[in-house]
Amino acid sequence: MGFFDFLTEEIAIDLGTANTLIIHNDKVVVDAPSIVARDRSTRKIIAVGTEANLMQGKTHNNIETIRPLKDGVIADFDASEQMINMFIKDIPALKKKWITPSLRMVICIPSGITAVEMRAVKESAERVNGKEVYLIHEPMAAAIGIGVDTMQPKGNMIVDIGGGTTEIAVIALGGIVCDKSVKIAGDVFTNDIIYYMRTQHNLYVGERTAENIKIQIGAATEDLDLPPEDLAVQGRDLLTGKPKQVQTSFREIAKALDKSILRIEDSVMETLSKTPPELAADIYNTGIYLAGGGSMLRGLDKRLSQKTDLPVYIAEDPLRAVVRGTGICLKNISKYKSVLIK
Ligand SMILES: Nc1ncnc2c1ncn2[C@@H]1O[C@H](COP(=O)(O)OP(=O)(O)O)[C@@H](O)[C@H]1O
Ligand SMILES: [Mg+2]
Repeated sequence: MGFFDFLTEEIAIDLGTANTLIIHNDKVVVDAPSIVARDRSTRKIIAVGTEANLMQGKTHNNIETIRPLKDGVIADFDASEQMINMFIKDIPALKKKWITPSLRMVICIPSGITAVEMRAVKESAERVNGKEVYLIHEPMAAAIGIGVDTMQPKGNMIVDIGGGTTEIAVIALGGIVCDKSVKIAGDVFTNDIIYYMRTQHNLYVGERTAENIKIQIGAATEDLDLPPEDLAVQGRDLLTGKPKQVQTSFREIAKALDKSILRIEDSVMETLSKTPPELAADIYNTGIYLAGGGSMLRGLDKRLSQKTDLPVYIAEDPLRAVVRGTGICLKNISKYKSVLIK
């Protein structure tokens, strides 16, 4: 411990494609959509997170809302740096400080991002006073957050279904043995619903409405133990142009999502088929762990379980498993040295 360590603050960041979460002093202090609203002419950031999310789909010509990490890659470096910056500056305990503390950070990144993007994230973090910055891959952080003992000579399979990507990984001895990242996740499910409403009901709905349908009644299978009730959905009639309302059911949504779920199933099967036999034997006993917001889709666990003939468990708090794991690494940097990327 150095003399100036009292000036150092520690934060763990889950830089997700849909949501950014930050842990400081063991508490989740930021949990907000990864969105920024920007003035087109001055390029000044007007709002980030929840506030920017409310502006989505409702902007006029002068304001644009951007998701800097769309599709599991960094689509807009500038916006993502400013977003991280504003989230960090908004942490109440740091705002109170009379001098800007230097930061020790562990940042979780989607495992599909390239080495160049990784360096960019790290440089962004250094520009916001990050003196010691480590990165960690998402499935590893998810595994640690779920409570899997990743250091054991034992295989575990993690499937993290986020907004932009689904990350599938087999983890053993503190490393990722085989993995796969597919660009089918929550955002694609939402778009499937938009497409379904347009083609089956002539109803044009926006992204926020479609996401709401997904959360309220979304399903991965028509064979649910606890089916939700039908939902009234409002949007614009494509033929008349008038606002209208239709009733939709979870069965319809299950149909709308079927193809995308099938692709996730196939990717899980493919990863299983690449798993070394000793680890496959472990997974036969331990099953598959699900994390990420997408894992909350009704019946997805059941469907994956039927497909793989394995037990499937959903993390206790799927949206926070990754940030929790990142936070655990932050507190035990020497223990997790092998999984952190300096
Ligand atoms: N109850 C739910 N059912 C289905 N999908 C959900 C639910 N809650 C959140 N989601 C979806 O989860 C995704 C966000 O998950 P998250 O793990 O935060 O993603 P990321 O790590 O990419 O930021 C979004 O697409 C959101 O619509
Ligand atoms: Mg995530």
